[in-house]
Amino acid sequence: MLILAIETSCDETAAAVLQTAGANIKLLSSEVASQIKLHAKTFGVVPEVAARAHIESIIPIITQSLKNAKVRLTEVDALAVTVGPGLAPSLLVGTDTAKALAFALRIPIIAVNHIEAHIYSPFLKTPRYKLPTTHLVFPAVSLVVSGGHTEIFLVKDWLAYKKLGRTLDDAAGECFDKTARLLGLPYPGGPAISKLARSGKPVIDFPRPLLKADNFNFSFSGLKTAVLYYLRDNSPLPPLTHSTSSGRKLRRNEGALWKANIAASVQAAIVDVLVKKTLAATKKYRAKTVLLGGGVAANHMLRIELENASRKSKINFLAAAPEYSTDNAAMIGLVGYLYARKRRFTPLPRMTARANWEI
Ligand code: KG4
Ligand code: ZN
Repeated sequence: MLILAIETSCDETAAAVLQTAGANIKLLSSEVASQIKLHAKTFGVVPEVAARAHIESIIPIITQSLKNAKVRLTEVDALAVTVGPGLAPSLLVGTDTAKALAFALRIPIIAVNHIEAHIYSPFLKTPRYKLPTTHLVFPAVSLVVSGGHTEIFLVKDWLAYKKLGRTLDDAAGECFDKTARLLGLPYPGGPAISKLARSGKPVIDFPRPLLKADNFNFSFSGLKTAVLYYLRDNSPLPPLTHSTSSGRKLRRNEGALWKANIAASVQAAIVDVLVKKTLAATKKYRAKTVLLGGGVAANHMLRIELENASRKSKINFLAAAPEYSTDNAAMIGLVGYLYARKRRFTPLPRMTARANWEI
């Protein structure tokens, strides 16, 4: 089966082509048109600006994806498209494009939940792979951490899961983005903080909200406020005693180190909570595997710490490859296929954007 997948839930316009047969999946192409530069100016995504950019990119990205896959549009057997959750104006672009294609080509379509796609994204490998046997992987605990979501799921099987917890306020990626802005770093903040953190040490003990709570919920908005107060109450540098050029250079270096220590401490606080809560969930539900997906899964420290903690507990660890951590259409195609092989297609009249779709 040839599946064309489309993703436009936030600020990436993406298309992918997958060839599937039983448990075998071949990823023929996966293209992403990023709007990062566009949204860097506003330090975040402005929905209408994002939607306009999706409208410009959607046909070129689908065309490129088909071309790279060496597949003609008329050869596609099914469509998979993200219908939610996400920004409504962005979702409408992908949903309506896919709907029109399905109608014109007379092929079935699958409405995909974006978070469900992040859950299964660790199974994506390039260029071909085999879906593992159920009993080797499940039950699993999935941590989905992105700019809009921080959620933990118990994954009992393919397409069978239960939400165990979620953030009560900001998402982990949002916390990276907001603290980066406080530190004068560019958007998106996650990669900028993790880069700066490499030259610092986590010497500041920022709060770990809800770490001790007897549930799997998160709260990150207090951490952003703690950074704000820390910046307000702590001066980066001792008073200047003399002003030689070497003295000024020393002050610049000290200032840079001070900032790097804050970045390292913010990252350590976020990672600490994510790792400990995920491991607690694996113990409670006797999970065999930890699955890590979503944009923040690209964070090196989170990957290392979660892998080490999982190994210590003799649990498999599967993280989405960095290119499939941030938004992409390959993961939408994979979930589309999981539904298609059960013949669970979505009737065209029911195909509509669902900005607040909770799973
Ligand atoms: O999944 P994603 O591409 O889009 C959403 O669905 O939100 O995630 C984007 C988020 C942003 O908040 C970005 O700062 C964060 O993922 N991110 C990272 C890293 N790379 C991207 N956070 C921490 N470390 C990274 N290396
Ligand atoms: Zn996402």
